[in-house]
Amino acid sequence: MTELPDVDELTLEQRVRLLSGGDFWHTRPVPEHGVPAVTLTDGPHGIRAQSATSERFDLSHNEPATCFPTAVTLASSWDEELVEEVGRALGTEARALGVAVALGPGMNIKRHPLGGRNFEYLSEDPLVSGRMAAAMVRGIQSRGVGACLKHFAVNNQESHRFVVDAVVDERTLRELYLAGFEHALTARPWAVMAAYNRLNGLHCTDNPRLLSMVLRGQWGFDGLVVSDWGAVEDRAAAVRAGTDLEMPGTAGDSDREVLAAVRSGRLEREHVTDSARRVLELVGRAPRDGSGGFPVERHHALARRAAAEGTVLLTNDGTLPLSRQRTVALIGAFAESPRYQGNGSSLVTPTQLDTALEELRGRGVNPHYARGYEPGDSERNPTLVAEAVEAARRADVAVVLAGLPGAYETEGVDRQDLGLPAQHDDLINAVCAANPRTVVALSNGAPVAMPWVDRPAAILECYLGGQAGGAALVDVLHGDVEPAGRLAESLPVAVSDVAANPFFPGRPHQVEHREGLFVGYRHHTTSGVRPLFPFGHGLGYTTFEWGAATVDRQRLGAEESVTVSLEVTNTGDRGGSEVVQVYVHDRTGVVLRPRRELRGFAKVRLDPGRSTTVEVELGPRAFAYYDVERAEWTVPRGTFDIEVARSSADVVHTLPVELTEGVSTSPEPPTTPPVATDDAAFRQRLGGPVPTPRAVLPFTRESTVAEISSTALGGLFARVLRRATPVGEDALGEGAVTGTLDRVLSEMPLRGLARLSGGRLRGEVVDLLVDALNGRRVSTGVRVLRTAAEAVGGRIVGGIPFRRETRGISRDTH
Ligand code: BGC
Repeated sequence: MTELPDVDELTLEQRVRLLSGGDFWHTRPVPEHGVPAVTLTDGPHGIRAQSATSERFDLSHNEPATCFPTAVTLASSWDEELVEEVGRALGTEARALGVAVALGPGMNIKRHPLGGRNFEYLSEDPLVSGRMAAAMVRGIQSRGVGACLKHFAVNNQESHRFVVDAVVDERTLRELYLAGFEHALTARPWAVMAAYNRLNGLHCTDNPRLLSMVLRGQWGFDGLVVSDWGAVEDRAAAVRAGTDLEMPGTAGDSDREVLAAVRSGRLEREHVTDSARRVLELVGRAPRDGSGGFPVERHHALARRAAAEGTVLLTNDGTLPLSRQRTVALIGAFAESPRYQGNGSSLVTPTQLDTALEELRGRGVNPHYARGYEPGDSERNPTLVAEAVEAARRADVAVVLAGLPGAYETEGVDRQDLGLPAQHDDLINAVCAANPRTVVALSNGAPVAMPWVDRPAAILECYLGGQAGGAALVDVLHGDVEPAGRLAESLPVAVSDVAANPFFPGRPHQVEHREGLFVGYRHHTTSGVRPLFPFGHGLGYTTFEWGAATVDRQRLGAEESVTVSLEVTNTGDRGGSEVVQVYVHDRTGVVLRPRRELRGFAKVRLDPGRSTTVEVELGPRAFAYYDVERAEWTVPRGTFDIEVARSSADVVHTLPVELTEGVSTSPEPPTTPPVATDDAAFRQRLGGPVPTPRAVLPFTRESTVAEISSTALGGLFARVLRRATPVGEDALGEGAVTGTLDRVLSEMPLRGLARLSGGRLRGEVVDLLVDALNGRRVSTGVRVLRTAAEAVGGRIVGGIPFRRETRGISRDTH
């Protein structure tokens, strides 16, 4: 902690200076008052401290740090203690690397399995997301550095992420998309990041309702709100709404905007002062002692344990754990080039990287190894498959490592379909045909289709296991540790089984959440559409017996809690863990509800033969819905079933309880169709008209590069921009598919380019461009366009680790 001046000691200009960054990763100092700059950097599963100049966005030159399993894997552990421990390690590393705020955890709800950043998010369920995020925050902050919840809010897709307006009804917003954030605030994070997208018409950064009314007013958040990088549309509006810090720096552009707004009376000084105070408070809390070291081996060991804890055993005929007497064929290039994290801002440069092949060899097992496929290549390769079949025939057991190549999971781009590359499916089918004792181990950050699901002897969903994932897989295969995960998301058979699918990802400027609450298991359990594997599912290596369950009271008032208890016994011959999940089924008939909703859970670890009593408390929120007319959480009166379950599809005990107080009517009765397919139903749910998406014409600062490309001038701009954008280095050697970079650029709004340009492209120049694009002042337009495109190209995407094959790029994609 450093003694810093009171905000009142700063001039208006100095206060304004605090409200935007100095470059990509630092706040701005006020040396006259001894206020230093502090560092904020990603992220969610490892610290990415950029070692090259922070003038540029560069993901490929970072200080090495432990790459822990990504959020999807950590959440699958359902283990808050473990996640907190990982948080502590992240905090230690942040501190060692001179980072004041780690930009994580990411906790958007997985609305759709194709969401491009699902690997970075925790769950489809707000309780799991909220509890895991809170644990992560507690861990990080225990080391005296800050955590930052992101991306607030409803940033559930990558397509059009800079401009899309998420249209969501208030009840769904409160119960599904905000509830996790609300819970995570119990851990008092230093910061919250306002998302890129709009929410019901307004950009999240410029949204007073979201930031001032809900986050600060209703939830009491007293920390800092930082914009997502380049998200701000109108800096003065954003300050008024409560976005304290704009990132990255704009070389004084936003100072000018804010000062002009204060001077013209458009923005009250108090807003500037409040935000400056919050920036000062954060700077004051930041440590000043980057120590330069952290326990590399200890953190690696933790990453290894966490990977196994988050691995989900989907099926097993008893082949796992492998007997050490058996000969093994290890198949799949991921065994030597592991798939262990996703692409984008969360990319970490690991301190070391374990591979399954090395780990097995290190244990003296000499597997028959066959590559099976090329890791970065999606083409079918019959020769490699034939070699794999040969290896599988010669061994007692075959282990196939398959999954999604890195290019499939990249920030900025949603996936196109659920499928694995065809060659992975071919390989699994061929190896299963050659050897009935085939184990499939999947590496991917989000659900994949498994047309071969009944063929393998066992399937392990390893997700993205971080830098020690390869060794953790061998631990699990041999049974040194148990795969202790449970799915924190539903795995659908096909995307057509997802209620949000017809509305995802929507149109460039609008995505309608017509499925309301019916996301993931809330949809599967209500509609009866069966998933491939249900939310909460996961097997282990031992067996458990669940005794009778009881509740401490059967009748409760609106403000009362109830505790569910049951005895769990490990009846197998080895240690293991079990996750007791408690769902609530509303039978009151008062309000439309998903068939069951998770309201509590507990993970227990037991030695063989041991028993324990598991207690799960359900508070009043467990029974409440958000009543839009009353604008408050409300409990219906009547009967609820408490369902004690192994998964969302496997209920072991049902315990009825009676809510003796509460309402008996609601604005959304149970007869309401769950999915508001037609406009009338959606209008009803929204409580007003369905908004019309923003028109493409006339062009504005909000127009995207793709949109302006329909004009000759805009096309020229896009071409020069692409040409001026250097090819990023490919940190992982796996890059993204040709065209990914084009997509990211195409979806950028003009004002986003300006905000990310570090002052090279000024707002006024964008306005000139817009005029020219709209057919005014065309002659100046050409010159301005060219200069502008060249100015921003190098800075914005210079370091994004996408391999761009220059020859493969069409110069005329529009
Ligand atoms: C991402 C954030 C990230 C930021 C800084 C943005 O593009 O959405 O999650 O923290 O960049 O890297």
